[in-house]
Amino acid sequence: MQLNKLPIAIGAVVFGLAASHAMAIGDGPVVTEHLDQAEIVAGNVAFDDILRAGGHLFSAKFNLYDGQGRPATTGGGAPRVPGSAPEFIRTSAPEANSCAGCHNDPFPGAAGDIVANVFVLAQTLDPVTFSVSPEFSNDRNTLGMHGGGPVEMLAREMTADLQALRAQLQDSVALNESGSVELITKGVHFGTLRVDERGILDFSQVSGVDNDLVIKPFHQKGAVISMREFSNNAMNHHHGMQSVERFGTARTGTDDFDQDGVVNELTVGDITAVTLWQAALGTPGQVLPDDSDALRAVIRGERKFDQLGCADCHVPSLKLAGRDFVEPNPYNPQGNLRPGEQGSYSFDMTSEGFAPRLEATPDGGALVRAYTDLKRHNLCDAEIRHFCNEQVVQAGISTEVFLTRKLWDVGNTAPYGHRGDLGTITEAIEMHGGEARVSRDAFMALNQDGKDEVVEFLKSLQILPAGTEGLVVDAKGRPLSPDQVKAMKMAALRK
Ligand code: HEC
Ligand code: HEC
Repeated sequence: MQLNKLPIAIGAVVFGLAASHAMAIGDGPVVTEHLDQAEIVAGNVAFDDILRAGGHLFSAKFNLYDGQGRPATTGGGAPRVPGSAPEFIRTSAPEANSCAGCHNDPFPGAAGDIVANVFVLAQTLDPVTFSVSPEFSNDRNTLGMHGGGPVEMLAREMTADLQALRAQLQDSVALNESGSVELITKGVHFGTLRVDERGILDFSQVSGVDNDLVIKPFHQKGAVISMREFSNNAMNHHHGMQSVERFGTARTGTDDFDQDGVVNELTVGDITAVTLWQAALGTPGQVLPDDSDALRAVIRGERKFDQLGCADCHVPSLKLAGRDFVEPNPYNPQGNLRPGEQGSYSFDMTSEGFAPRLEATPDGGALVRAYTDLKRHNLCDAEIRHFCNEQVVQAGISTEVFLTRKLWDVGNTAPYGHRGDLGTITEAIEMHGGEARVSRDAFMALNQDGKDEVVEFLKSLQILPAGTEGLVVDAKGRPLSPDQVKAMKMAALRK
C-alpha cells in the first residue's frame, strides 16, 4: 500500500510534546505526537501532559497512517506471510480500533460488555482461526484498569517478599540438609517451599503462583506481570501497533517488521505514557445508598461477606509499604522496558493522578481495597464446573485456576465471570465450587434477605467518576467524611 500522506515513515519519533507533525488536511494519523522517553525521565514533560498523551493513545482509533494493521506479523508478534490473514478479524485480531473500543464501561479504561470479549490465544493460531470454539481460544470478558497501578505495586512487593523467602531458605540450609519455608506475604499463604539435601527446590507444595514466585496480577489467569507488558502485547495483538521496545527500532523504511508501511509506530515514551495513564486512573470506591433499608443491607452484607469466608480469598484490603507507582516494573520480561535501560519515572498514587486517589496510611504506605489475594484458585469440583469452561492452556497455567477476581469495581462492571456469561452477582457466587465450595454453600444456605444483603454490599463497590474527591460517596456522588459515614450507618441501623 502506498501511503503518500505518511508524515514521517522513518524514525517517526517526535521529541517531547512540543513538536508535532504538521497537521495534514484530510486523512492522517490520529496520533500526531509521540513522546520521547528521555524527555519524560528528565522531567521535561509535565505529568498532566503525559497523562493526556497516554489517554489519547488509549482512546485513539488507530488508522493506516498510524501504522494500524500488521500484514507480516501475528498477534503473538511472530513473522507471517503478508496476505495470509484478513486485515480485521474478530477471532485472531486485529479486531478493534482502540483500547477503549473494549475498555469503556462505565468509563474509558474500565471494563466491557460481553460483545467486547477477546478470544485469548486465538492470536497464536494467526494466520488464522475463524472459530470461536473453546478448542481454539479462551473467551474472556474485558476487565477494568481502575486501580491497576496499586494492584501492580502490590504484586511487586509480594514478589519481592516471596523471592526473599526463597533466598533465605537457600542461605539458611546447610550443605546436605533439607529445609522448608512457608511462603506468606501480606498475610496471603502460597504454600510451602522445600529444598532437598542437594539444594534442589521442591515446588510441589507451592500453590497459586508460578515457580518463579513472580506474582502476575494481570489477565484473569494471572499471566502478565505489568500493565506495560500488557500494553505492548495488546497494541500489537489488537491493533497491529508495534512498539520499538518490543519490535526494535527501524533504521530504514525497508526495516518494517510488520510491513504496513510505517516503522517505529510507538516509542518507548508512548508506552510509558499509556501505562502511566492506566496506572493513574481513579481508585474504585463505594457508593452508599440513600435509602436506609438499602444501606442497612450494605452494612449487613459486608459483615456476611466476611463471615461466609468470601474474604479469605477476596481479601478486603492489602497494605502497600510504599505509595509510589514506579515505571518500569523490575520483573518485566524481555521485550519490555526494564529498570536501568532508559531511566524510570514515578508518581505518588495517594496524591497524584486522577481522583479518587489511593488511601494513604500514616506510616507512609497505602491501603488497596481491591478484594483479592492475587492468588490463583480452583473453583471447580465434581458438581460445580462452570469456571472450568476453558480448554487452551495459557502460559503453562492449569486451565482450572483463575486469579481471585478483584471486586472493588464489581458494582458497575457487569457482566460477571471470566467469560462474562453471568448476568447477575448471585449467579457468579453460585458458580463457585472447589476451593470456594464451603463458602459458596454457606451463601446458598442463607435466606433470600441474607443473599440480597451480600449482593447489595457488592453492588456498592464501584468505579467512581474521575475527579471524585473521596473514596466513599453518597448516592448523588458527594464525598462522605468518615464521620458522616458513621452517622449515616448508625441512623440506618437504628431504624
Ligand atoms: C477486543 C477487546 C480489547 C481490546 C481492543 C483491548 N483489550 Fe485489554 N483486555 C480485554 C480483555 C478481554 C481482557 C481480559 C483478558 C483476560 O483476562 O485474559 C483485557 C485485559 C487487559 C489488561 C489487564 C487487566 C487486568 O486486571 O488483568 C490490561 C492492562 C489491558 N487489557 C490493556 C489494554 C490496552 C493498553 C489496550 C490497547 C492497546 C487493550 N487492552 C485493548 C479486551 C480488550
Ligand atoms: C477460594 C477463593 C474464593 C472464595 C472463598 C470466594 N471467591 Fe469469589 N472468586 C474467586 C475467583 C478465583 C474468582 C474468578 C472466577 C472466574 O471468573 O474465573 C471469583 C469471582 C467472584 C465474583 C465475580 C466477579 C466478577 O466481576 O466477575 C464474585 C461476585 C465473587 N467472586 C464473589 C464471592 C463471594 C460473595 C464469595 C463468598 C460467598 C466468594 N466470592 C468466595 C475466588 C474466591
